[in-house]
Amino acid sequence: MRVILFTGKGGVGKTTIASATALQCAKLGYRTIILSTDRAHSLSDSFDLHIGAKLMKLRDNLFAKEVDVQEVLNKNWGTIQTYIRELFTKWDFDSVISEEIAILPGIEDLLNLIELKSLNESGEYDVAIIDCAPTGATLHLLSFPEVFKWYMKRLFPIERKLAKVARPLVKKTINYPLPSDSVFESIKDLYQNVGKMRDILIDRKSSSIRIVLNLEKMVIHEAQMSYTYFNLFDLPVDAVVVNKILPKDMDASYFSKWKDFQTKYLNQVKEIFSPLPILQVKLFQEEIVGLNLLTKLGELLYTESNPTEILYKGRPIEVKKKDSEYLMLISLPFIEKEDIDIYRKGDELTIRIGNIRRNILLPKTLANRKIDSAKFEDERLRITFGGDIGEREKE
Ligand SMILES: Nc1ncnc2c1ncn2[C@@H]1O[C@H](COP(=O)(O)OP(=O)(O)O)[C@@H](O)[C@H]1O
Ligand SMILES: [Mg+2]
Repeated sequence: MRVILFTGKGGVGKTTIASATALQCAKLGYRTIILSTDRAHSLSDSFDLHIGAKLMKLRDNLFAKEVDVQEVLNKNWGTIQTYIRELFTKWDFDSVISEEIAILPGIEDLLNLIELKSLNESGEYDVAIIDCAPTGATLHLLSFPEVFKWYMKRLFPIERKLAKVARPLVKKTINYPLPSDSVFESIKDLYQNVGKMRDILIDRKSSSIRIVLNLEKMVIHEAQMSYTYFNLFDLPVDAVVVNKILPKDMDASYFSKWKDFQTKYLNQVKEIFSPLPILQVKLFQEEIVGLNLLTKLGELLYTESNPTEILYKGRPIEVKKKDSEYLMLISLPFIEKEDIDIYRKGDELTIRIGNIRRNILLPKTLANRKIDSAKFEDERLRITFGGDIGEREKE
């Protein structure tokens, strides 16, 4: 199943572009589903139809659904939530606070995407289009599966066998209620589902993110930042959609300065995101609402390409072998050398940019090797892995 996510700052046109893309896919004969993970659920407004939590057929080959956050939350997080609440109450937290804390930040956005896993397994659809929440939340969401796995692994021993052995020992030393079997089961399910969902999202053969932006300074800046983080998390971005461009032949002297700015910013965007393809969409004469206008937009957007194609295949993290050394290349555009911190513990490599952190689990071939050097050149972090760690330590 091809998965395309649309992300960007609020109001740039994510929902509109996602809807138009879904329509175009359906028109080309792909069985398509469009989902919204934005709590503001605006698919209904965009299509001008009432779309709810129940799957709805919009036209041939096109289905839509607004995820019911509460339902998904109860199903996947309910048991764990009860346990966490119990834990905090035991620690004398105020009950309102316990209730709030028991909802892990980001868990709602994450769970909205968990549906991808069952959709993928069902084999019902050729394409899933995801209309994401505004950039900040999307970043959180996309980095979350990784962070989630990391925490869960440390908080709860997933292996039941291990837990059974550990529990009697642990019980004596710490004074909090240990999770029951059903909590363990829930955690295990969630952990596995989140893992599978992440596997879908990072699979470059089938998934990609398209960044939607407008030609305004702050919007471009935010898009640039999110692109850096997508690279850091190895999430595939395959295109940028520049939306709401003032038409060249527009006759309105009031907007002449706007047009000049847009020309300047469009050139900037091309430089910034090169070599990603840039899809351009003009500002329509009216709001783009309803099937007719959305269909028109879909045709304009993809006159030269098939919307389901992977429009760019480059990858931000690469590992290359050079003689007896390995080189790991990580593209980190738009940041300065001084902003990057790298450290390593065992087979985990941690890269920190500001307060964002990524743990890269090194592949076996690299885990046994020492880092000989780390350089930042041409917007790429170049880490050289040399000889065997064991050998070196023996020396
Ligand atoms: N190219 C365009 N021309 C005219 N109106 C547009 C265009 N793209 C989006 N819009 C309008 O802008 C508003 C915001 O778009 P929307 O897709 O809801 O943004 P987002 O999902 O990013 O918050 C909507 O009213 C939509 O109809
Ligand atoms: Mg929207």
